[in-house]
Amino acid sequence: MENISITKADSSHLEQIEAIEKTLEHRNLSYDSIKKDLERDNAYYLVAIDNTTNIVVGYIGCELLVDHADIVSIATDKNHLKQGIASSLLNTLEKELKEKKIESIFLEVRTSNLPAINLYTKLNYNKISTRTKYYDNLEDANIMKKDLI
Ligand SMILES: CC(C)(COP(=O)(O)OP(=O)(O)OC[C@H]1O[C@@H](n2cnc3c(N)ncnc32)[C@H](O)[C@@H]1OP(=O)(O)O)[C@@H](O)C(=O)NCCC(=O)NCCS
Repeated sequence: MENISITKADSSHLEQIEAIEKTLEHRNLSYDSIKKDLERDNAYYLVAIDNTTNIVVGYIGCELLVDHADIVSIATDKNHLKQGIASSLLNTLEKELKEKKIESIFLEVRTSNLPAINLYTKLNYNKISTRTKYYDNLEDANIMKKDLI
């Protein structure tokens, strides 16, 4: 992880975020929709950059809503999985949101997405409810929450 920097995302990262999105099984956000998300006033996005190549290897995005945040996306590039990148993105996001006096973070995750559920559980997110048939394929979502304050 010493080769990875976490920094605030900006429009210069859009193409590389889109490139990672295109490889995901369930999500393929277009350049335009990522751009729209990133430009929203209440959006907060971070990218993980490999310092040796200057390439984006992961990102996280959330929406800030008064006293809490909703994570809208998190992903790590396929060639950089299981190296602590998503953990590092979440840890940095939590630290920065705490400084903004955000009290808690919420997220939805597919009940079949074990890597993500394990990630969130490891970082002390708790399942607080289930949304049935939440996704397009009618899969349920686990709603998870972490209190920051
Ligand atoms: C979920 C995801 C973001 C994890 O990214 P990552 O950078 O590989 O995660 P980390 O290396 O920080 O892993 C942290 C923990 O997550 C869990 N985890 C990560 N990948 C896992 C896998 N393939 N199987 C089981 N658990 C896994 C483990 O508990 C791991 O801790 P450990 O390394 O001590 O075992 C990544 O798999 C991904 O991009 N998936 C596709 C997009 C996605 O599903 N996003 C979540 C939407 S809710």
